[in-house]
Amino acid sequence: MTTPVRPSDQTPAPAHGPASAPLGVAAIGYAFMGKAHSNAWRNVASFFDVPAFEQKVLVGRDAESVAAAAAKYGWAESATDWRSVIERDDIHIVDICAPGWMHAEIAVAALAAGKHVLVEKPLANTIAEAEAMTAAAAVARANGVQSMIGFNYRRVPALALARELIAEGRLGTVRHVRAAYLQDWLSDAESPMTWRLRKETAGSGALGDIASHAIDQVLFLLGDAVTEVTGRLHTFVNRRPGVDGLEDVTVDDAAWATLTLASGAIASVEVSRVATGQKNSLKLEIYGDKGTILFDLENLNELGFLDATAPVREQGFRRILVNEPEHPYLEAWWPQGHIIGWEHTFTHQIRDFLLAIRDGSQPSPSFEEGLNVQHVLAAIEESAAAKSSLIQLSPKPTSTATEGA
Ligand SMILES: NC(=O)c1ccc[n+]([C@@H]2O[C@H](COP(=O)([O-])OP(=O)(O)OC[C@H]3O[C@@H](n4cnc5c(N)ncnc54)[C@H](O)[C@@H]3O)[C@@H](O)[C@H]2O)c1
Repeated sequence: MTTPVRPSDQTPAPAHGPASAPLGVAAIGYAFMGKAHSNAWRNVASFFDVPAFEQKVLVGRDAESVAAAAAKYGWAESATDWRSVIERDDIHIVDICAPGWMHAEIAVAALAAGKHVLVEKPLANTIAEAEAMTAAAAVARANGVQSMIGFNYRRVPALALARELIAEGRLGTVRHVRAAYLQDWLSDAESPMTWRLRKETAGSGALGDIASHAIDQVLFLLGDAVTEVTGRLHTFVNRRPGVDGLEDVTVDDAAWATLTLASGAIASVEVSRVATGQKNSLKLEIYGDKGTILFDLENLNELGFLDATAPVREQGFRRILVNEPEHPYLEAWWPQGHIIGWEHTFTHQIRDFLLAIRDGSQPSPSFEEGLNVQHVLAAIEESAAAKSSLIQLSPKPTSTATEGA
């Protein structure tokens, strides 16, 4: 589907001039993620001290629709040919909000043109594409050109706090994690075909779409690596209405996995897009020998914490309202208790990306981290195809620095 992508050996230095010159931004895609990212670009400088930038151009396929979206979302202009946009001298950042099958081709070309790249998850649809992107990112980084993958849930303040508490040893030795990401937008068997239901455009179904987030969270929260995987995939609705009648669904509706981590901890991952009644439920439970953390995206300002080192007669889950200036990212927002929402995670993501560009540091999660997740996704598919047999992985160490405020 995509043309082959190869990193060039030499990436030009970042294509912006004097430090004071605003960075020119182009976003590719203007639907769901294009809108969420545009909103973040529009408000990030109102809350955080970030380098100057300009929302230059929004790219889509339909000239009239993308022009209307550009006007609505604060972009100076619109375009329909991403290739000519990434070659422009006044574009320094390319924000890829297009479907997974386009990620590799755009990212490799943009990095080769010396543009900093933010790309939505999952990194790519195949390991080969993800490896090409990671190789291109490494070449570009050597020339000061940065790249990052948009696992935005790392920027939920409560989850950034959870990571801090785990790193500080507040849970002791983490024994096991339960990660469940459940949605129901495909529960209705009459729900129509989209690019998300075709293997050639989406790579996989619930697996790449939402297990990628859940696996990234396990790795982020624990600062760990996956060494073994078992998996199972299932498609409950095999044909759905397309433009010319029923079409085959070629991806999974739901996936299950167990992960062994290098630390010895075990994680279970369960994802579904047919979990009737569950709208966008990402639940994470982390169990250590000295405590437990609970998180639910539907209450994203809260963290449940049990300190098992307290006297037993005083123990119990406490609800931390993660809304104090001391908490990650929150000093910039509203007075304490004036809660934030899902869209703020994208603002935090843009903030961290811009600061990394300013500082010349590698933003996290890097493409290497995205590739690690991709290897876990591929191992789940491999295991599922082999009746859930155990698949070994050899994770490479990556920088997992958190960029939290
Ligand atoms: N971080 C998250 O929480 C989250 C949520 C949803 C989607 N995503 C990811 O974001 C990406 C996009 O998903 P989406 O839900 O926004 O999809 P979408 O279908 O809503 O939007 C895709 C956009 O890509 C554009 N596009 C497609 N082909 C193009 C081309 N050749 N040139 C220019 N534009 C083109 C379309 O016009 C559309 O604007 C995917 O990788 C998806 O996995 C992330």
